[in-house]
Amino acid sequence: MINDPILLNDWHVVARAEDVPEGTLVGVRLLGENLVLWKVNGQILAWRDLCIHRGTRLSLGRIEANQVICAYHGWTYNTEGRCVRIPAHPEQVPPAKARVQTYQVRVRYGWVWVSLGNPEQDVPTFPEWDDPSFRKVFCGPYPYRASGPRAIENFLDVAHFPYVHEGLLGDRDHTAIEDYEASIGSDGVTADNIRIWQPDPDGLGQGAMVTYTYRVFRPLTAYFVKTSAGPKFAIYFAVTPVEEVECIGWMWLAMNYGYDVPEEDLRGFEDRIVAQDIPIVESQRPELLPLDLQAELHLRCDRTAIAYRKYLRELGVTFGTA
Ligand code: FES
Ligand code: FE
Repeated sequence: MINDPILLNDWHVVARAEDVPEGTLVGVRLLGENLVLWKVNGQILAWRDLCIHRGTRLSLGRIEANQVICAYHGWTYNTEGRCVRIPAHPEQVPPAKARVQTYQVRVRYGWVWVSLGNPEQDVPTFPEWDDPSFRKVFCGPYPYRASGPRAIENFLDVAHFPYVHEGLLGDRDHTAIEDYEASIGSDGVTADNIRIWQPDPDGLGQGAMVTYTYRVFRPLTAYFVKTSAGPKFAIYFAVTPVEEVECIGWMWLAMNYGYDVPEEDLRGFEDRIVAQDIPIVESQRPELLPLDLQAELHLRCDRTAIAYRKYLRELGVTFGTA
């Protein structure tokens, strides 16, 4: 098990809830651990994907009568993860320590969140989720061969828009970033009032001056809302730390306009943006995000990234950072 109490005791998205139907064992990976997800009586369970007999992956097995049966010798586990039957010794009561490691699960925003430890806080709130005037569009999952903190920092970065997203989120004639403030509080990082000209802020083909507010709720869950004279466009972004330099991005878009635009178009726009970001993020060295602010050059425009790195350092996040 990794040595990062902050991420071990945090919630992480591992799947969409709809991708864990009853009757199926779904193998996923989180923080270097293999997990198996399965759904029974409407509830999703997350276990270590390891049979305690000989270490076979339980996700290779099958579900019968609300029990998981290992593919190798048929040891059978109930919904609490306790072994209730050893077919080679049908008369024997399985020893009490014959149980798999189980983990806490939350289903929120259509996603399955798992913690490998004991979280002190709930899954971060998605401000627009319960507001019906905002249309929600799911985007992703987006796999990156990069550390989770690198993916989040890219999400917080605005100075790259005219270069990486030229013609969409930025314009070479509008590269200057005006001054703005970023701060760290008990509820994470906030950066406010970042004003930028965007040729096509949301894929609808209309240029606008937009104002961004960024939030980092938790080390790997971030959010922004951008506004321009009425329309509001938000993204809630959760990153799964799969390995130190491997992660998966999950997104919800929320917008209070453009109700008639086909969902595929909005998702296609976001897919295009993320596909522009991924090669940049995967190329960054060092692969682990340096939390020592002396390690790289930081300018005024990087205030959000500076606050993010300080926040990770204050918390003591080690997985994916240096
Ligand atoms: Fe699972 Fe033997 S390894 S039953
Ligand atoms: Fe980008």
